[in-house]
Amino acid sequence: MKKMIFEEFDGYSDIVEEIAVSRKYGIDYTEKKDSPDQYINLLHPQRLEFHVSDIFQETPSTKTLRLVATNQYLPPFQAGQYITLFLEIGKIRTTRPYSISSAPNQTGYYDVTVRRVEGGLVSNYLLDEVVKGQIIESSGPAGNFYFNPLFHDRQMICLAGGSGITPFMSMIREVVDRGLDRSIYLFHGNKDLDDVIFHETLNTISKRSKNIHYLPVIENSEEGYQGQSGLITGSLIKETLDHLEDKTFYLCGPQEMYWFCIPELEKLGIPARKIRKEVYGPPARISDYPGWPQEIKAQDPVAIKIKGHKILEGRAGEPLLVTLEKAGLVPPSLCRSGECSLCRVKLLSGKVFQPPGALVRKSDAQFGYVHSCVSYPLEDLEVLI
Ligand SMILES: Cc1cc2nc3c(=O)[nH]c(=O)nc-3n(C[C@H](O)[C@H](O)[C@H](O)COP(=O)(O)OP(=O)(O)OC[C@H]3O[C@@H](n4cnc5c(N)ncnc54)[C@H](O)[C@@H]3O)c2cc1C
Ligand code: FES
Repeated sequence: MKKMIFEEFDGYSDIVEEIAVSRKYGIDYTEKKDSPDQYINLLHPQRLEFHVSDIFQETPSTKTLRLVATNQYLPPFQAGQYITLFLEIGKIRTTRPYSISSAPNQTGYYDVTVRRVEGGLVSNYLLDEVVKGQIIESSGPAGNFYFNPLFHDRQMICLAGGSGITPFMSMIREVVDRGLDRSIYLFHGNKDLDDVIFHETLNTISKRSKNIHYLPVIENSEEGYQGQSGLITGSLIKETLDHLEDKTFYLCGPQEMYWFCIPELEKLGIPARKIRKEVYGPPARISDYPGWPQEIKAQDPVAIKIKGHKILEGRAGEPLLVTLEKAGLVPPSLCRSGECSLCRVKLLSGKVFQPPGALVRKSDAQFGYVHSCVSYPLEDLEVLI
């Protein structure tokens, strides 16, 4: 029989295979096909409710929370996607995204793996306060950082920095569990060996699976350390891989890692379309960002007038969304990285700094909307939420 034209596309057979696997192991959402709204709500729920069924200490600074749904199916997700937790801590209602570190082919739970951030509100709460049995709410799975067989090479070169390992752990687990015809080379950069998340698991997996290669790279290695020390440089990547063609590069980690590794990849001649990077929240030190006006200090106070509300006290180095949440206002938010648009507010007067890469739609920019999660007030503002 003559093939349909779409059957000729690269990646078509992978998609057919993935659908077959999902049908075999997943939940049949089409049972609800006579009721499209129920069908859509199951796949894209506004909120999920979980209880914390287990807590695993991964390293001194990191725990995995296993989240089991209290009363609904878990929607399927792509390895690499995140969920956003909705939390109330003290009097602050806030959100934080966490990549799902478990495999997408098991449908009983989502794991999120959380590393402590010094002075951080939510990571310290999740690590120190949350106990087994506690109820936690989240969004459905979201994000674009996943393998798409139509566009991406089957040889994935993954560069992880610290807790940026989590989406890759899900991808690796999926490749191994499903026996997918895809290979992953993982460079995992960390400051210290004793804080490398999933180190033992990755060593074991890479010994057993010919498709998974794992290279930890330790910045502050101790004398006599036999492994790779330093940073993930272009020359390390070139020496390690036999060639650089037919590969897609994935990066996930702190902003400083992107500033260092992306120019290294560019020096190797890797084209921009072969480099994919996950968003990782607002920059930790915005005043170090290129383009930040040097005469303004992160601690400088600013007055934020909310139309119809009181005047709030903010700081130049604090994202507008954080100031609003501290005052008990809760604009919707999901990615906290300038990508999803949910946290838009209208700027009626005043100027904000938005780091390059905040994806504000053309029409939003035209009508004065900004993403409050990555907007830093450079002067007093008036805002409509
Ligand atoms: C898509 C995505 C996936 C992610 N996946 C993971 C994951 O799998 N695991 C993981 O551990 N993390 C992950 N993160 C990061 C996570 O969402 C949180 O950002 C992280 O846990 C820190 O949150 P926090 O509330 O502890 O820190 P925050 O309170 O948000 O603070 C972060 C930093 O900003 C500083 N800070 C706090 N308040 C202020 C302020 N008012 N002014 C100036 N600076 C301030 C803090 O000192 C700290 O250094 C992910 C982020 C994104 C966007
Ligand atoms: S929360 Fe996604 S753009 Fe701000």
